[in-house]
Amino acid sequence: MNRYLYVTFSILCVVILTTNTNAFPGDLVEPHNKSYIEQYQSEKLDFLTVGDWGYDGIEPGQIYGNQSIVSMAMKDWAEYYSSDFIINTGDSFYINYDGDHEGVNSVYDPKWNKVWKDAYKGRLAEIVWYSVAGNHDWYGNITAQVDYSLNYDKRFFLPSTFYVRELYFGPKNTKVVWIHIDTNIFYYEPSNPEKLDMMTQLKQVGWDTVQTIEDKLKWIEDRLIEQQNSTWIFVVGHHPLVATCANQYYMGSLRPLFEKYRVAAYFSGHEHNLAIETAKDGQPVTYFLSGAGSKTRIGCDGSDWGAPVGTLGFLHTILTEDKFTYEFIDSTTALEPKIVYTGFFTPRP
Ligand SMILES: *[C@@H]1O[C@H](CO)[C@@H](O)[C@H](O)[C@H]1NC(C)=O
Ligand SMILES: *[C@@H]1O[C@H](CO)[C@@H](O)[C@H](O)[C@H]1NC(C)=O
Ligand SMILES: *[C@@H]1O[C@H](CO)[C@@H](O)[C@H](O)[C@H]1NC(C)=O
Ligand SMILES: *[C@@H]1O[C@H](CO)[C@@H](O)[C@H](O)[C@H]1NC(C)=O
Repeated sequence: MNRYLYVTFSILCVVILTTNTNAFPGDLVEPHNKSYIEQYQSEKLDFLTVGDWGYDGIEPGQIYGNQSIVSMAMKDWAEYYSSDFIINTGDSFYINYDGDHEGVNSVYDPKWNKVWKDAYKGRLAEIVWYSVAGNHDWYGNITAQVDYSLNYDKRFFLPSTFYVRELYFGPKNTKVVWIHIDTNIFYYEPSNPEKLDMMTQLKQVGWDTVQTIEDKLKWIEDRLIEQQNSTWIFVVGHHPLVATCANQYYMGSLRPLFEKYRVAAYFSGHEHNLAIETAKDGQPVTYFLSGAGSKTRIGCDGSDWGAPVGTLGFLHTILTEDKFTYEFIDSTTALEPKIVYTGFFTPRP
């Protein structure tokens, strides 16, 4: 009798363990309310923004693949300017060859080394990559990316899919707030048959309802209210809000929040190009698109500036207490990266 019970119990354990292994633990992806604090001694902050970089394929006729072409220029910039960190706008891991899977499938996926650590050398391998999740990250195992960040290598910073960084720098201890958000929930309309892949993934963490969307918008608004005493407020998400790109599903709901609560700039990727919608009278937020880290495609209709289709590259920023200076770098030609668009703005009053 005892032995019978023991066997039954063992079978039950195996069933529970197996079920857990296949589960998407929702608590790992849920927003973190408490800010992560960073302190810098330097007078200015220097950072590079890159997105959609997770494809390391080499095309016929290429000596270097698109990813290495961009990473070489990024390395030059990061070393010349002693960049402090990378803003990663997501799509960190794609299908890289026939038969490959989307995203990463676990914390042990060889892509962590092959597509990230081996692809970005020198200073790029020393500084932190502050990341958000793209759709291709969700099509794989997004929980594994959070797990990797929390338990294996914090340099790939994604402690949850929504998080806040409070950063202090310079002689006056200037405060900068970064709100990193997951836009997949806002971008994909459930009724669109093309978006089935995303809804299947969101369902697994219970994020497939309109209520969840409302909750996450409220989370963003609450964090923005809390951080109103920051000199600079920035938001990062995968999907763009540049001009007509903001028309998807709930994406447009983000823009009024950013306008109301003093967000200076929003950084995104997803469209594989470089583009900007600049702040102007009646529209105080600068919207950046930097999604040309390994693939190329059209940008956003109606942008104030956009690189031609086929452009690879990234965005470089220098931030001081009272000035945000940026330059877009076109690195399509591997050995001759060039600055193609520059500008600056000041903190919002
Ligand atoms: C996804 O990653 C999590 C966290 O590392 C892991 O517990 C889970 O087993 C993975 N899921 C699958 C289907 O492999
Ligand atoms: C986190 O913030 C959300 C909304 O901003 C709130 O509903 C939730 O209760 C908070 N969670 C914790 C653990 O404080
Ligand atoms: C911002 O407000 C928090 C409390 O809400 C306070 O602890 C902090 O010192 C303030 N920071 C600045 C830069 O004023
Ligand atoms: C790689 O970049 C070239 C332009 O340099 C472009 O023609 C090609 O389509 C890109 N590859 C992918 C997969 O987007």
